[in-house]
Amino acid sequence: MTDQPALLETYRILAAERLAAGPLAFLNGGSGACVTQRANQTDFDDIAILPRVLRDLRGGGTAVRMLAQTLDAPILVAPVAYQTLFAPQGEPATAIAAAAQGVGMVLSCQSATPMAVVQQAGEGNLAWFQLYWQGAGRGATMDLAQAAADAGFGALVLTVDAPVNGVRDAEVASGFRLPPGVGAVNLANVPQPKFAPLETGESLLFDRVASCLPTWEDVAWLCDNAPLPVVIKGVLSPADASLAVAAGAAALVVSNHGGRVLDGVPAAITALPAIADKVQGAIPVLMDSGIRRGSDIFKALALGASAVLVGRPVMWGLAVNGAQGASHVLRMLRDELEVTMMLAGCRTIADISRDCVHLNR
Ligand SMILES: Cc1cc2nc3c(=O)[nH]c(=O)nc-3n(C[C@H](O)[C@H](O)[C@H](O)COP(=O)(O)O)c2cc1C
Repeated sequence: MTDQPALLETYRILAAERLAAGPLAFLNGGSGACVTQRANQTDFDDIAILPRVLRDLRGGGTAVRMLAQTLDAPILVAPVAYQTLFAPQGEPATAIAAAAQGVGMVLSCQSATPMAVVQQAGEGNLAWFQLYWQGAGRGATMDLAQAAADAGFGALVLTVDAPVNGVRDAEVASGFRLPPGVGAVNLANVPQPKFAPLETGESLLFDRVASCLPTWEDVAWLCDNAPLPVVIKGVLSPADASLAVAAGAAALVVSNHGGRVLDGVPAAITALPAIADKVQGAIPVLMDSGIRRGSDIFKALALGASAVLVGRPVMWGLAVNGAQGASHVLRMLRDELEVTMMLAGCRTIADISRDCVHLNR
């Protein structure tokens, strides 16, 4: 493609033109009335940046350390399921893009590509593996964790905010189904719980699924026994952040899953400061949900994040121009963060502090 879109917003528009209705609804949709999904972006508008001027900015940069690895910018691609829905090259193209930009990638356990293939495409770049607690129990969950370690991933990201799927109207209305040939190949051999037929009056979710869901005890067990550090993704309450630290998490991600699970919860950027205060630097606090600009990344770092994850924008890039498009989106975010830092008078990521922003609410 010769005419590269100049703006991240153009990638969003072009992706919407190119994707079929079902995959587009799956990618862009939020849950319920999309109150949380909207707040994920509009709440950034309530945060003003307070620039400092005439500071010495020589030798500055955007690099950070994240769980013993260096990133060129405090950005990771968020775990996004079934990426071959958006471009035939799928997850390996995203891994190439992340490596090209020196940012991390979290691979969804619902990857449409074998995990080892994606890991190799990233060529040693920071790669973490996201998983859900497996309904068949501790053994099945540990087998998946071990497979990720064997494939060379550097950490596990246990997503805890989606014990069941959210209600996503646009997806339901589009009649979206995974097309033939797209599936969670890494879960093909993981045993699934077998439920007997429901008795009259029984509820599928509370009477059956609930017995397969993890608790903090399981998380502590995983942190103690997994072959990799465990990052907990999907925390919005300071009390849960404390429980994650106590369970032995290596990091946590303040996230509402991009507004895709429980509608009505706070924007992640709004939940972040109280969580960062509670954690007090005991472990890195990352955040995602709604990052669309480098200035959003700056605001998240100022409010206590060590790094951010970016979901849909990278997929818009992938949909429009494969690895090159995803890479360009990440580059734009990196560049804009750098400009924001310079204009705000911050030489390094460590210089971005709470004093750099003012909350307008
Ligand atoms: C299409 C799609 C699929 C997703 N799949 C997963 C997943 O498999 N596991 C997970 O933990 N989060 C998943 N997420 C949530 C993202 O990891 C992330 O929390 C969210 O996209 C961040 O919001 P943003 O898209 O506004 O950047 C998915 C998000 C999207 C848009």
